[in-house]
Amino acid sequence: MPPTDNVQIAPAEGKLGILIPGIGAVSTTFIAGVEAIKRGLGLPIGSLTQLATIRLGKRTDGRSPKIKDFVPLAGLDDLVFGGWDIYEDTAYEAAVNAKVLEPTLLAQLKEPLSAIKPMKAVFDPEYIRRINGPNVKTKGSKMDKAKELMEDIANFRKTNGCSRLVMIWCGSTEVFHRAAPVHQTLASFEAGLCNNDPDIAPSQVYAYAALMSNVPFANGAPNLTADVPALLDLARERNVPICGKDFKTGQTFMKTLLAPGFKARMLGINGWFSTNILGNRDGEVLEDPGSFKTKEETKLSVLDQILQPKLYPDLYENLYHAVRINYYPPRGDAKEGWDNIDIFGWLGYPMQIKIDFLCRDSILAAPLVLDLVLFMDLAQRSGMRGIQEWLSFYFKAPMTAPGLYPEHDVFIQLMKLKNTLRWMRGEDLITHLGLEYYD
Ligand SMILES: NC(=O)c1ccc[n+]([C@@H]2O[C@H](COP(=O)([O-])OP(=O)(O)OC[C@H]3O[C@@H](n4cnc5c(N)ncnc54)[C@H](O)[C@@H]3O)[C@@H](O)[C@H]2O)c1
Repeated sequence: MPPTDNVQIAPAEGKLGILIPGIGAVSTTFIAGVEAIKRGLGLPIGSLTQLATIRLGKRTDGRSPKIKDFVPLAGLDDLVFGGWDIYEDTAYEAAVNAKVLEPTLLAQLKEPLSAIKPMKAVFDPEYIRRINGPNVKTKGSKMDKAKELMEDIANFRKTNGCSRLVMIWCGSTEVFHRAAPVHQTLASFEAGLCNNDPDIAPSQVYAYAALMSNVPFANGAPNLTADVPALLDLARERNVPICGKDFKTGQTFMKTLLAPGFKARMLGINGWFSTNILGNRDGEVLEDPGSFKTKEETKLSVLDQILQPKLYPDLYENLYHAVRINYYPPRGDAKEGWDNIDIFGWLGYPMQIKIDFLCRDSILAAPLVLDLVLFMDLAQRSGMRGIQEWLSFYFKAPMTAPGLYPEHDVFIQLMKLKNTLRWMRGEDLITHLGLEYYD
């Protein structure tokens, strides 16, 4: 008997609109990449939804379909893109300025990219300090602006004939702030929108507008955004999936690969110093101490959870962990990240590991954006609502239910993601126990 789905999954029919606050380096590399892949100009390297397989049943069964053949995902030809930015540059101009992709490749994609003109942004210079632009909504309260965003969303849906939409924040990192009383209930949040409460960040206005429009919301930056009780309640109330925060791409990705390995072998660590130089607009915004603090929080949280110093005081109690980011214009989007790791082994004998990762930030982030929008759409078609913890794989600071610590180990995250897909389709979950092969 074929397995029966645990959830009813509506088919992926019609167009899927991808709405992006922030038409910058990451989002244009994502959009241009999809357009290039559609034209056979490149491959979707780094994307699980496009390339990865999923093992089903026993190792001896030989069943390993591609994920995209196992669960119904929107096809690349059915994606349409739109977004908001404080600058008026089209996605083509923004991609040229970002200097991530070769001009010769962008020239071949000029037509679809030039058609994407950013809608007027909801912006507040108190939340992003080092940039300012003219393409912003100016009238009325934060609630008026949220309503304008809802109109933008409805118009986009209609003009492009979309059957479904997903929103993903690829805007700059906002300054660090904690949940305030205004974020505690939906009523206080809506009152705050009407009174222009300074504790409501622009990204929260977008998240509110998305959820009120029944559009799933993903957060690629470390901002607090939807991670507050009012918006979590709204997502559950309206049956909309949400996830975040902060794409796990370069240095933190390396950390969540390595740290579980050291811990698995019971090797100690007493120092982990990470520093980066990058010269794109993201780097410029992160020069502001407020925005850096937001980033630092998500980057620092990872090791503590993976290494569990309270359980292993001899190995990790005295770990000194520091993260630095410096804006260095000559490198543009080609970031360089150094890690110095001081580890110790048998009888406490010290060793050192040095990593020099010459990475490309947006090249690493673009496939994550693609996977997230396709999986968020799948989640919504499957009736899944609220925090999608199974998408932790993609984030530096995964959102979790209140009181639950996040899972940072990238391999556990991958198992969780694939088991969720197996569960959706009523397949056996894979535990790797394997005793049955030796009966
Ligand atoms: N590239 C990576 O590897 C990576 C990894 C994790 C997180 N991120 C985060 O993703 C985000 C985007 O990164 P990027 O390199 O594309 O940056 P970017 O500076 O190139 O693009 C961000 C864009 O957002 C716009 N913006 C700022 N505030 C806005 C608002 N309120 N509404 C609409 N647009 C707004 C800016 O004008 C800019 O064009 C950043 O927050 C970054 O920290 C990137």
